[in-house]
Amino acid sequence: MTEVAAGPVESAFEVNGRKTTVSAPASATLLSVLRDRVGLTGTKFNCEQGECGACTVLLDDRPVNACLVLAASAHGHQVTTVEGLADEGEPSRMQDAFMRCDAAQCGYCTPGMVVSATALLCRTAHPSRADIEQALSGNYCRCTGYESIVTAVEAAAEERGRLQ
Ligand code: FES
Ligand code: FES
Repeated sequence: MTEVAAGPVESAFEVNGRKTTVSAPASATLLSVLRDRVGLTGTKFNCEQGECGACTVLLDDRPVNACLVLAASAHGHQVTTVEGLADEGEPSRMQDAFMRCDAAQCGYCTPGMVVSATALLCRTAHPSRADIEQALSGNYCRCTGYESIVTAVEAAAEERGRLQ
């Protein structure tokens, strides 16, 4: 039997509100395409096994590990990366809370944390500390001990509650 090599696959999706078309091998992950073809390096590359959460992005508002998603399967969907959370160049409320609460040290986990935390606040108006810990349970941080991160998410939730 003759094996036919799979050629590149074209995928069209929205990234941070912008229509994007990429041609990549069928096995290319959303993570590699975002970083290497779209140029959005805020989404971090680490374990590539769905264990650390550094590569978390929103796929139609749902947090996913971009290292486990094939780029081709994002065809027709909306992808939001940490770059897309900023508001006209200004940090989002969550990004601002992370800065104010010293919730980042080396910063490598921070984009994934911010994306997961943002998704939590979209689905839960008043999350408890336990809700926050649960929502971030797939995001690993080797530096902070998590306390300041959970505090930052609480601060962002409280601030949003005050402004509504
Ligand atoms: S790089 Fe995707 S979960 Fe670690
Ligand atoms: S701030 Fe360094 S891994 Fe989280």
